[in-house]
Amino acid sequence: MANLKPSIIVIFGASGDLAHVKIFPALYGLWEEGFFPETFIIAGFARTKFDDESFKKTIFESINSYCRKRPVSEDNFINFSKHIYYLPSQYAEQESFKKLSEFTTAKASEYNMPKNVVYYLSTPPSVYDNVIDGIKNVGLVSGTFKSGCFSRVVIEKPFGYDYKSAEELNKNLLSVFNEDEIYRIDHYLGKETVQNILAFRFANAIFEPIWNNKYIEHVQISALESIGVGLRAGYFDKSGTIRDMMQNHMMQLLSLVAIEPPALFDADDIRDEKVKLLKSVRHLSLNDVKNCVVRGQYDRGMINNKPVIGYREEEGIALNSFTDTFMAMKLFIDNYRWAGVPFYIRAGKRLKTFKTEICVYFKKLPYSLFAKTGIENMRQNSVIITIQPNEGISINIGAKMPGFKLDIEPVNMVFNYRSSFKLSPPEAYERLIYDIISGDQTLFARYDDMLIAWELITSILNGWSKMESPAFPNYEAGSWGPKEADNLLKADGLSWNN
Ligand code: NDP
Ligand code: BG6
Repeated sequence: MANLKPSIIVIFGASGDLAHVKIFPALYGLWEEGFFPETFIIAGFARTKFDDESFKKTIFESINSYCRKRPVSEDNFINFSKHIYYLPSQYAEQESFKKLSEFTTAKASEYNMPKNVVYYLSTPPSVYDNVIDGIKNVGLVSGTFKSGCFSRVVIEKPFGYDYKSAEELNKNLLSVFNEDEIYRIDHYLGKETVQNILAFRFANAIFEPIWNNKYIEHVQISALESIGVGLRAGYFDKSGTIRDMMQNHMMQLLSLVAIEPPALFDADDIRDEKVKLLKSVRHLSLNDVKNCVVRGQYDRGMINNKPVIGYREEEGIALNSFTDTFMAMKLFIDNYRWAGVPFYIRAGKRLKTFKTEICVYFKKLPYSLFAKTGIENMRQNSVIITIQPNEGISINIGAKMPGFKLDIEPVNMVFNYRSSFKLSPPEAYERLIYDIISGDQTLFARYDDMLIAWELITSILNGWSKMESPAFPNYEAGSWGPKEADNLLKADGLSWNN
């Protein structure tokens, strides 16, 4: 475990959903487990009218509702919260940032610590520029290197709205911070099961030799959710699944399953490989967008035997919204390893089940030794990496059924996290915040992989803007998504692993 440097963690938008559900519970979880700096300060920066005490109360509630370590004892919380402060502020006012600057200087001196600051942008993206400008204008970051302190900025997805806005946001960030001070969070990279993809591939001698187009027929990557848009209508309706899931989480999963082995297991080598991989994803023409990309929007339906409303009936969603709540696509990676192997990727809300998985299907046998015994259609081998829930990996093989007759049946060899390690994996946000404080960027998106992913997504968005919109809503809540998504695979003689 790294010896963590004393740190001041400033959370912009500290009154919001992400702070409540993820950030504060993760900060507390780390502190309680001893994975936190001995000297620390947490400062909330937002418009909502709190004082230190009422702010601490909301944090206590957050932790007790969402922390892995709940219920939290009051005594423990009192010790933790001694270091929490709240700065009622305005994002567009220089005065607020001046106060923040005075606050960090005063606290660093009071706690006798270097002014190491993590600026965590937990606001809607529309506020990012104000915050970055505020930080820049009052010189909150300048000179930190010379004084031996660190400044880091944390930014949440979506990083921009399209390629151009992502590039602009990046430029703005880079006008204040160096790339090695910027932590772009994609919380999927904080999930143990996602990190395990690289361990599975590169810590075992048996998989890598067959992890290529010679042996693999096709790959499916699915992130299926049964929840709907919930209370995030304002954000989601402007984003859709394409920006909310595809540009970030799904591209990261694709990268990890397909990258070449990095030279070293470190931040830049891994991210260099991701960039190479994403650069090899075949560009989609307008025709490809028409034929290989499917979008959907949920209608009313049943989830867990309970009726749920359609997307257009959700609070805050326009009756004629054309936002996608489902997307599926077929991609090719034009490189030596993957030439000719289709990757089918889908993500969506209000689907029949909740599961995120990567399914790797191997080619059928070159010759069926058992054909004359009446066993014609043996199931092809596959590796299913379940990211969530029931985190684990299963390898599907054919085995002889016990008995006098030769009968081969598919069976699973299963690795399950909870039963193998007898513990539940840490929360993604705990891992990511720990890495931010210790200065490890391995699990964060770099500007170039983020921009290349936007290039692909923007070409699809441009294609959609030239096409007629589908007749939304086009799938029932509680189904597997629009039938066109099934047809995408059916056309290739395949089907989704539902
Ligand atoms: P919220 O909409 O809850 O906003 C966070 C806070 O920002 C608000 O409490 C509000 O605080 C402040 N704020 C400033 N300007 C605005 C504005 N125009 N509209 C609304 N709030 C404003 O966002 P989340 O906490 O859900 O998300 C924060 C960031 O994290 C976003 O970039 C989001 O995309 C990203 N994210 C969120 C996830 C989630 O599950 N919530 C998941 C992954 C990423 P105040 O009024 O007190 O200033
Ligand atoms: C977030 C998206 O990034 O990821 C949400 O904004 C989505 O819309 C969520 O529900 C899914 O995350 P997880 O960890 O539940 O798979």
